[in-house]
Amino acid sequence: MNRRMVILACLVAWLALACLAIACRDRESKAIVSTGGVPAAGKKALFERGCGACHTIPGVPGANALVGPPLDHMASRVYVAGMLTNTPEHLRTFITHPQRVKPGSAMPEVPLSETEARDVVAYLYTLE
Ligand code: HEC
Repeated sequence: MNRRMVILACLVAWLALACLAIACRDRESKAIVSTGGVPAAGKKALFERGCGACHTIPGVPGANALVGPPLDHMASRVYVAGMLTNTPEHLRTFITHPQRVKPGSAMPEVPLSETEARDVVAYLYTLE
């Protein structure tokens, strides 16, 4: 490879990385605006509350279980748990009180503070 090709390859790689960074930031700010939560804190809460014991959740360490549905693409889903339209509020309601929303669901009530629930929804909304 001559020097010009190397420079061109570096330029292309740099451009691709820059686009990726902009896309990630855009996704994150969209999630913050629509949910009022903090995605990074939500990711931490998903880990600490053990949601990964039942779910596969991209980006959350150790979250690769298949007891419940995978939580990838949560921002693009039409329904939450197959019954509520997918809005930040409905998602928050379901994750804080699955048994109230859908009695008999295999998803247990996991104690989450209001802030944690909002942050978890913010993180899930970064998963397009
Ligand atoms: C004991 C296993 C278990 C744990 C722990 C658990 N879930 Fe679930 N979850 C499920 C099951 C099973 C479903 C499917 C429920 C249904 O559709 O009735 C579900 C459904 C969901 C859904 C709806 C998914 C969809 O495809 O619409 C979300 C969102 C969710 N869980 C988030 C969480 C979060 C956040 C936590 C941690 C606070 C958590 N879950 C902890 C088992 C679990």
